[in-house]
Amino acid sequence: MKGTILKCLHEMVRERYGEAKWDAIVVAAGAPSGTLYFPSQDVPEDVAMRVLASAAPVLRMSTGQVYDAFAAHWVDVYAPKIYRRFYEGATSAREFLLSLDRIHDVVTRSIEGATPPRFTYQWVDARTLRMTYRSERGLLDLFEALALALGRHFGEELRTRQIGRDVLEVIFPSEGPTELPR
Ligand code: HEM
Repeated sequence: MKGTILKCLHEMVRERYGEAKWDAIVVAAGAPSGTLYFPSQDVPEDVAMRVLASAAPVLRMSTGQVYDAFAAHWVDVYAPKIYRRFYEGATSAREFLLSLDRIHDVVTRSIEGATPPRFTYQWVDARTLRMTYRSERGLLDLFEALALALGRHFGEELRTRQIGRDVLEVIFPSEGPTELPR
Protein backbone atom coordinates (compact mmCIF):
# COMPACT_ATOMS: atom_id res chain seq x y z
CA MET A 1 0.00 0.00 0.00
CA LYS A 2 1.14 3.52 -0.70
CA GLY A 3 2.73 5.29 2.26
CA THR A 4 0.26 8.15 1.76
CA ILE A 5 -2.35 6.37 3.91
CA LEU A 6 0.12 5.93 6.78
CA LYS A 7 1.48 9.45 6.37
CA CYS A 8 -2.06 10.79 6.81
CA LEU A 9 -2.63 8.51 9.82
CA HIS A 10 0.61 9.83 11.33
CA GLU A 11 -0.48 13.45 10.83
CA MET A 12 -3.86 12.81 12.42
CA VAL A 13 -2.39 10.96 15.41
CA ARG A 14 0.31 13.58 15.93
CA GLU A 15 -2.17 16.46 15.82
CA ARG A 16 -4.76 14.88 18.09
CA TYR A 17 -2.73 12.68 20.45
CA GLY A 18 0.95 13.64 20.10
CA GLU A 19 4.03 12.16 18.46
CA ALA A 20 4.65 9.63 21.26
CA LYS A 21 1.39 7.87 20.42
CA TRP A 22 2.44 7.53 16.79
CA ASP A 23 5.66 5.95 17.89
CA ALA A 24 3.77 3.54 20.12
CA ILE A 25 1.61 2.57 17.12
CA VAL A 26 4.53 1.76 14.81
CA VAL A 27 6.31 -0.14 17.58
CA ALA A 28 3.11 -2.12 18.34
CA ALA A 29 2.98 -2.96 14.62
CA GLY A 30 6.50 -4.38 14.80
CA ALA A 31 8.26 -1.50 13.00
CA PRO A 32 11.30 0.27 14.47
CA SER A 33 10.73 3.25 16.74
CA GLY A 34 10.96 6.50 14.76
CA THR A 35 9.55 4.99 11.55
CA LEU A 36 8.07 7.58 9.18
CA TYR A 37 6.29 6.97 5.88
CA PHE A 38 6.37 9.03 2.70
CA PRO A 39 3.40 9.42 0.36
CA SER A 40 4.91 7.70 -2.69
CA GLN A 41 6.63 4.95 -0.72
CA ASP A 42 5.56 1.36 -1.30
CA VAL A 43 4.84 -0.14 2.10
CA PRO A 44 4.52 -3.94 2.25
CA GLU A 45 0.84 -4.85 2.61
CA ASP A 46 1.27 -6.73 5.90
CA VAL A 47 3.16 -3.83 7.50
CA ALA A 48 0.60 -1.25 6.35
CA MET A 49 -2.31 -3.33 7.61
CA ARG A 50 -0.56 -3.92 10.95
CA VAL A 51 0.08 -0.19 11.45
CA LEU A 52 -3.57 0.59 10.64
CA ALA A 53 -4.74 -2.11 13.03
CA SER A 54 -2.40 -1.05 15.85
CA ALA A 55 -3.84 2.44 16.13
CA ALA A 56 -7.07 1.39 17.89
CA PRO A 57 -5.55 -0.52 20.83
CA VAL A 58 -2.77 2.04 21.35
CA LEU A 59 -5.22 4.95 21.33
CA ARG A 60 -7.77 2.93 23.33
CA MET A 61 -10.38 3.54 20.69
CA SER A 62 -12.50 1.25 18.57
CA THR A 63 -11.41 0.60 14.98
CA GLY A 64 -14.51 2.52 13.85
CA GLN A 65 -13.45 5.58 15.87
CA VAL A 66 -9.95 5.43 14.36
CA TYR A 67 -11.42 5.18 10.85
CA ASP A 68 -13.71 8.17 11.52
CA ALA A 69 -10.81 10.29 12.79
CA PHE A 70 -8.61 9.18 9.88
CA ALA A 71 -11.39 9.86 7.38
CA ALA A 72 -12.06 13.38 8.70
CA HIS A 73 -8.35 14.19 8.52
CA TRP A 74 -7.98 12.69 5.02
CA VAL A 75 -11.03 14.42 3.54
CA ASP A 76 -10.77 17.82 5.28
CA VAL A 77 -7.05 18.38 5.76
CA TYR A 78 -4.65 15.94 4.12
CA ALA A 79 -6.11 15.31 0.66
CA PRO A 80 -7.01 18.99 0.00
CA LYS A 81 -3.35 19.79 0.70
CA ILE A 82 -1.66 16.89 -1.14
CA TYR A 83 -4.19 16.26 -3.93
CA ARG A 84 -5.64 19.76 -4.31
CA ARG A 85 -6.49 19.37 -7.99
CA PHE A 86 -9.26 16.84 -7.22
CA TYR A 87 -10.99 19.31 -4.93
CA GLU A 88 -10.92 22.18 -7.39
CA GLY A 89 -14.37 22.47 -8.87
CA ALA A 90 -15.86 19.69 -6.71
CA THR A 91 -19.08 20.95 -5.18
CA SER A 92 -20.79 17.89 -3.70
CA ALA A 93 -20.17 14.48 -2.18
CA ARG A 94 -22.21 12.99 -5.02
CA GLU A 95 -19.88 14.46 -7.63
CA PHE A 96 -16.80 13.44 -5.66
CA LEU A 97 -18.00 9.86 -5.17
CA LEU A 98 -18.83 9.58 -8.85
CA SER A 99 -15.24 10.64 -9.60
CA LEU A 100 -13.74 8.29 -7.02
CA ASP A 101 -12.85 5.44 -9.34
CA ARG A 102 -11.23 7.82 -11.82
CA ILE A 103 -9.33 9.60 -9.01
CA HIS A 104 -7.81 6.35 -7.75
CA ASP A 105 -6.96 5.28 -11.29
CA VAL A 106 -5.32 8.63 -12.15
CA VAL A 107 -3.36 8.93 -8.90
CA THR A 108 -1.87 5.45 -9.13
CA ARG A 109 -1.59 5.03 -12.93
CA SER A 110 2.03 6.13 -13.01
CA ILE A 111 2.97 4.00 -10.00
CA GLU A 112 4.18 0.58 -11.01
CA GLY A 113 2.53 -2.23 -9.07
CA ALA A 114 -0.05 0.02 -7.34
CA THR A 115 -3.28 -1.74 -6.45
CA PRO A 116 -5.73 1.03 -5.56
CA PRO A 117 -9.30 0.26 -4.61
CA ARG A 118 -11.62 0.40 -7.63
CA PHE A 119 -15.29 1.28 -7.63
CA THR A 120 -18.24 0.52 -9.90
CA TYR A 121 -21.59 2.27 -9.72
CA GLN A 122 -25.22 1.31 -9.82
CA TRP A 123 -28.12 3.71 -9.20
CA VAL A 124 -31.10 2.21 -7.40
CA ASP A 125 -33.09 5.45 -7.70
CA ALA A 126 -32.20 9.13 -8.14
CA ARG A 127 -30.97 9.41 -4.53
CA THR A 128 -29.60 5.91 -3.90
CA LEU A 129 -26.24 4.83 -5.24
CA ARG A 130 -24.70 1.41 -4.79
CA MET A 131 -20.95 1.40 -5.07
CA THR A 132 -19.11 -1.89 -5.40
CA TYR A 133 -15.72 -1.70 -3.74
CA ARG A 134 -13.01 -3.89 -5.19
CA SER A 135 -9.83 -4.34 -3.20
CA GLU A 136 -7.97 -7.29 -1.77
CA ARG A 137 -7.62 -5.30 1.46
CA GLY A 138 -11.23 -5.66 2.51
CA LEU A 139 -11.45 -2.16 3.99
CA LEU A 140 -15.18 -1.58 3.35
CA ASP A 141 -15.51 -0.05 6.85
CA LEU A 142 -12.82 2.49 5.97
CA PHE A 143 -14.54 3.21 2.67
CA GLU A 144 -17.79 3.87 4.54
CA ALA A 145 -16.06 6.18 7.04
CA LEU A 146 -14.50 8.12 4.16
CA ALA A 147 -17.82 8.42 2.33
CA LEU A 148 -19.51 9.82 5.46
CA ALA A 149 -16.61 12.24 6.03
CA LEU A 150 -17.01 13.41 2.45
CA GLY A 151 -20.69 14.12 3.11
CA ARG A 152 -19.78 16.18 6.19
CA HIS A 153 -17.11 18.00 4.18
CA PHE A 154 -19.73 19.18 1.70
CA GLY A 155 -22.40 19.75 4.38
CA GLU A 156 -24.55 16.84 3.18
CA GLU A 157 -26.09 14.34 5.51
CA LEU A 158 -25.47 11.06 3.71
CA ARG A 159 -26.83 7.77 4.91
CA THR A 160 -24.90 4.59 4.22
CA ARG A 161 -25.50 0.88 4.48
CA GLN A 162 -23.17 -2.02 3.78
CA ILE A 163 -24.55 -4.81 1.63
CA GLY A 164 -22.41 -7.92 1.90
CA ARG A 165 -18.69 -7.45 1.98
CA ASP A 166 -18.14 -5.24 -1.03
CA VAL A 167 -21.15 -3.00 -1.63
CA LEU A 168 -21.81 0.34 0.03
CA GLU A 169 -25.20 1.90 -0.51
CA VAL A 170 -25.16 5.68 -0.24
CA ILE A 171 -28.38 7.67 0.10
CA PHE A 172 -28.04 11.35 -0.79
CA PRO A 173 -30.29 13.98 0.81
CA SER A 174 -31.47 15.20 -2.57
CA GLU A 175 -31.62 14.26 -6.24
CA GLY A 176 -28.90 15.32 -8.68
CA PRO A 177 -26.76 14.18 -11.57
CA THR A 178 -26.18 10.44 -11.86
CA GLU A 179 -23.69 10.36 -14.71
CA LEU A 180 -20.01 9.68 -14.18
CA PRO A 181 -17.95 12.82 -14.84
CA ARG A 182 -15.54 12.65 -17.78
C1 HEM B 1 -8.49 13.35 -3.51
C2 HEM B 1 -9.04 12.29 -2.97
C3 HEM B 1 -8.40 10.93 -2.90
C4 HEM B 1 -7.19 10.49 -3.39
C5 HEM B 1 -6.16 11.26 -4.18
C6 HEM B 1 -7.06 9.09 -3.00
C7 HEM B 1 -5.95 8.30 -3.26
C8 HEM B 1 -5.70 7.10 -2.65
C9 HEM B 1 -4.45 6.37 -2.68
C10 HEM B 1 -3.18 6.81 -3.41
C11 HEM B 1 -4.62 5.24 -1.94
C12 HEM B 1 -3.57 4.12 -1.71
C13 HEM B 1 -3.80 3.07 -2.78
C14 HEM B 1 -2.72 2.00 -2.85
O1 HEM B 1 -1.79 1.99 -2.07
O2 HEM B 1 -2.82 1.11 -3.73
C15 HEM B 1 -5.99 5.23 -1.45
C16 HEM B 1 -6.56 4.25 -0.67
C17 HEM B 1 -7.89 4.21 -0.35
N1 HEM B 1 -8.88 5.08 -0.74
FE1 HEM B 1 -8.56 6.86 -1.60
N2 HEM B 1 -8.18 8.72 -2.31
C18 HEM B 1 -9.02 9.79 -2.23
C19 HEM B 1 -10.25 9.85 -1.61
C20 HEM B 1 -10.94 8.74 -1.17
C21 HEM B 1 -12.31 8.74 -0.70
C22 HEM B 1 -13.18 9.99 -0.58
C23 HEM B 1 -12.63 7.44 -0.44
C24 HEM B 1 -13.93 6.84 0.01
C25 HEM B 1 -15.10 7.46 -0.04
C26 HEM B 1 -11.43 6.63 -0.68
C27 HEM B 1 -11.30 5.27 -0.45
C28 HEM B 1 -10.09 4.64 -0.27
C29 HEM B 1 -9.90 3.40 0.47
C30 HEM B 1 -10.98 2.56 1.15
C31 HEM B 1 -8.51 3.13 0.42
C32 HEM B 1 -7.74 1.99 1.15
C33 HEM B 1 -7.08 1.02 0.23
C34 HEM B 1 -7.96 -0.12 -0.22
O3 HEM B 1 -9.10 -0.25 0.28
O4 HEM B 1 -7.50 -0.90 -1.08
N3 HEM B 1 -10.45 7.46 -1.15
N4 HEM B 1 -6.62 6.39 -1.89
